[in-house]
Amino acid sequence: MRVLGIESSCDETACAIVENGRHLLANEVASQIELHARYGGVVPEVASRQHLLAIIPTVRQALDKASTNWQDLDAIAVTRGPGLAGSLLVGVSMAKALALAWEKPFVGIDHLEAHIYANWLGEAEPEFPLLCLIVSGGHTDLILMQDHGNYIPLGHTRDDAAGEAFDKAARILGLGYPGGPAIDRAARTGTSVLSLPRAWLPGSYDFSFSGLKTSIYRLAEDDKITSASDAAASFQEAVVEVLVGKTLAAAREHRVHQILISGGVAANSCLRARLAQESPLPVIMPPPILCTDNAAMVAACGYFRLRQGAIDNFDMDVIPDLELICAENRR
Ligand code: KG4
Ligand code: ZN
Repeated sequence: MRVLGIESSCDETACAIVENGRHLLANEVASQIELHARYGGVVPEVASRQHLLAIIPTVRQALDKASTNWQDLDAIAVTRGPGLAGSLLVGVSMAKALALAWEKPFVGIDHLEAHIYANWLGEAEPEFPLLCLIVSGGHTDLILMQDHGNYIPLGHTRDDAAGEAFDKAARILGLGYPGGPAIDRAARTGTSVLSLPRAWLPGSYDFSFSGLKTSIYRLAEDDKITSASDAAASFQEAVVEVLVGKTLAAAREHRVHQILISGGVAANSCLRARLAQESPLPVIMPPPILCTDNAAMVAACGYFRLRQGAIDNFDMDVIPDLELICAENRR
């Protein structure tokens, strides 16, 4: 089964074609990063207008790259939430238009569930039960996945998401936007010398990063940061230590077979190295290009959702605050 995936929830216009949920035939991403960099963050209206310009060329490129014509496609999967309403509408309208014209079934996908499915695009198929750590710009979640579509939330962030914390810290340190990759780069030449707080929140798998952000802010205000690279390394170490510590504890308690990581922060080199080093269990991580937003993960997820019988009607709407693994969002 060949699924065409469309992703437009934030600042990447993406289209991909995936066979049987696992084999990538094309993965096109038109990034808007440069457009938003001058504002230091994503500007929603600018994002939706840019999606409108980029969506048709991106779909065409994906078909070309896969050397496929639309007759060979079996279905369309599109992100319906969470994300920016205006941005989501562009992708969902495109998917509906294609489904109507091509007479193909289509399915709306939860962006976070799609991030998890980036892990099905690697060589080895993940084995249930799995522990999923989703770390993106908007979310930080630990989820027990017992089967396709069977999720138990174990913990989430109580304030900033991990990616959001990276972005804010980078802004304080003057490292630019997007902050995650900037901190990752700067930290390579720095040493973790600052003593920064870790919110362990004992007895829970929840996270909190706002105290850490405030502490970087105070140090900067008091002119106590003499090296941005050292500060970046210290900040990254503090975030990664908590992410790894809680993930390994949850994996132990729930006796999972494997750990999966996904979302933009899963591209972080320190997080990847530390998890691989410290985990007694196999850790599956998508290549960095499939950690950040893409449509391959949407198409992969779409395949498994369609196999479960999920097909949407043309009255399907976007849900900007869609919550993953929320029973009422499941049919
Ligand atoms: O998953 P994603 O592309 O979009 C959302 O769904 O939010 O995640 C974007 C987030 C941003 O906050 C970005 O700074 C962060 O992922 N990020 C990273 C790295 N690459 C992207 N954070 C840390 N290290 C990285 N290498
Ligand atoms: Zn994302």
